[in-house]
Amino acid sequence: ASHPLVLFMPSGKRGHFPVGTPILEAARTLGVYVESVCGGRATCGRCQVEVQEGRFAKHGITSSNDHISEVGPKELRYAEKRELKPGRRLSCSATIEGDLVIDVPQDVQVNAQTIRKDVDTRIIARNPAIHMCYVEVEEPDMHKPLGDLDRLKAAIEKDWGYRNLQVDAHLLPHIQHILRKEKWGVTAAVHQDEETDRPTLIALWPGLKNEAYGIACDIGSTTIAMHLSSLLSGRTLASAGASNPQIRFGEDLMSRVSYVMMNPDGREAMTLAVREAINGLIDKVCAEGGIAREDILDAVFVGNPIMHHLFLGIDPTELGGAPFALAVSGAVHLKSSDIGLPMNAGTRVYMLPCIAGHVGADAAAATLSEGPHRQDEMMLLVDVGTNAEIVLGNRERTVAASSPTGPAFEGAEISGGQRAAPGAIERVRIDPGTLEPKFRIIGVEQWSDEPGFAEAASSTGITGICGSAIIEVVAEMYLTGIISEDGVVDGALAVRSPRITANGRTFSYLLHEGSPRIAITQNDVRAIQLAKAALYAGVKLLMDKLSIDHVDQIRFAGAFGSFIDPKYAMVLGLIPDCELENVKAVGNAAGTGARMALLNRDYRREIEETVNRIEKIETALEPKFQEHFVYAMAIPNKVDPFPKLSA
Ligand code: FES
Repeated sequence: ASHPLVLFMPSGKRGHFPVGTPILEAARTLGVYVESVCGGRATCGRCQVEVQEGRFAKHGITSSNDHISEVGPKELRYAEKRELKPGRRLSCSATIEGDLVIDVPQDVQVNAQTIRKDVDTRIIARNPAIHMCYVEVEEPDMHKPLGDLDRLKAAIEKDWGYRNLQVDAHLLPHIQHILRKEKWGVTAAVHQDEETDRPTLIALWPGLKNEAYGIACDIGSTTIAMHLSSLLSGRTLASAGASNPQIRFGEDLMSRVSYVMMNPDGREAMTLAVREAINGLIDKVCAEGGIAREDILDAVFVGNPIMHHLFLGIDPTELGGAPFALAVSGAVHLKSSDIGLPMNAGTRVYMLPCIAGHVGADAAAATLSEGPHRQDEMMLLVDVGTNAEIVLGNRERTVAASSPTGPAFEGAEISGGQRAAPGAIERVRIDPGTLEPKFRIIGVEQWSDEPGFAEAASSTGITGICGSAIIEVVAEMYLTGIISEDGVVDGALAVRSPRITANGRTFSYLLHEGSPRIAITQNDVRAIQLAKAALYAGVKLLMDKLSIDHVDQIRFAGAFGSFIDPKYAMVLGLIPDCELENVKAVGNAAGTGARMALLNRDYRREIEETVNRIEKIETALEPKFQEHFVYAMAIPNKVDPFPKLSA
């Protein structure tokens, strides 16, 4: 008779195993990731699984709790001491007695939460670069003069299969003491990122150490966001954010590069500033998660090329001009102690690869998160900042570029513009008959023409207009005929509405009378046209490269994308024509990608391989860019139709 069939869910991996095989062993054989710290001694409880009962016709298998061994003494001891939820079994102790469908509980959910509170929960398969391995080391023997460390290595090889183990130097002075503390029982943290790497012993504790943590951090030029996760369960324990203190050296990226070029210790000052902020965030997430810094063993960082370089202490001057040479584009492996982030002496750091001189590890992480390369549909992924990072592609081919949108989308260079903050106008509608506006401000529920608005707005006041509303107001001005296709404010309308006012030789649209007075000037409209034309022209170049005339899906990463209304983005011709329901804001996709790389080293290989394949386009060198740009200055576009919009 053939051996019982065991099917693991949710991976769907399956195989036949002899009766009596421990479930954990079967999982290992099939490459199903099940955590284990104690090495099958039934003490860590990390290897829990559940039997799914029933007939699984599709697989021709009937699974039942009768097909798994009864709870043995070791498992019983764990269940009594540490509590085992009903239905849960320790896979290291339970053995296969018949056909089984085994559920590996997935604690690992990463919530990509956008500012608008849409939560996209996804399950991330886990395979961290660090494993916690409990071993019992043979005691010294006068007749066998093998050193303590050598016997430790032998035990790790025997129980966990790590051959050729390297040892971090910082451990050497402590090994004898640690081994003797809990009677030769120790937990080793073994780091192995690539399968072909030599595994390295990076930390060691006496007895069973049943926890290990990691951080994932997105270094934005404006804000830095960090998540703390358990490497053993995948659970996120804490999240925190801070503004990037480099802002005091320069608001945008290029001004920071020029600060470095102009000040002899500019680079060092900015490196220190960002590391200090990151150290502060580490303290914060540790406090919130109730853990010690020493228990963080792995860290993943992403950022745009300039943030990436400054964080690593690399002078970003070369990134300030053509040919925009990165000092390092591939993934970076370091120890946290190398870069002034004290955690555990053995803590490892991984940085995702950069795609190009203007398209950084943050764009790589967003790509990993959204996965254009994992699907057949053509996905456009944009992260809008002072530079728009654009990735376009699918399973077959992916291209990337950045476009110089300038800061207009962030509210800079707009007369009443400001960053998104309470009091900022975030939504605008204009009545097509009277040309009277109504708007909403951040922090207030009501529209400006609804009862209770004035009272609710009194605490913050109306302070300015943020990026999302600038898009909307210009789109509404176009829809109501206040501006023409070329973006010119129609002065003839001044006779119809007191909102249209002369402003030298051009005209403005008065959005809010009062203090501050907020008007959309001809210059503001121009700034938005320039920004949107740059973005669109970049996208068009990439579409040309792939010889496509439409995209299936559009994903907006980053804060800006979370606020803008896809419909208005399309009315203005910011993005190409697409089914509106397929245009989505995905929040901090870079942060999500960083967490994926933290929890599963296979994702690191996936993005490294993908980044290698991505074709990089330098917009400044493409002759067609200017042509696309000129067409895209018109609203929505001089030549390209938007059929989905009129539908
Ligand atoms: Fe530790 Fe099963 S591996 S309890």
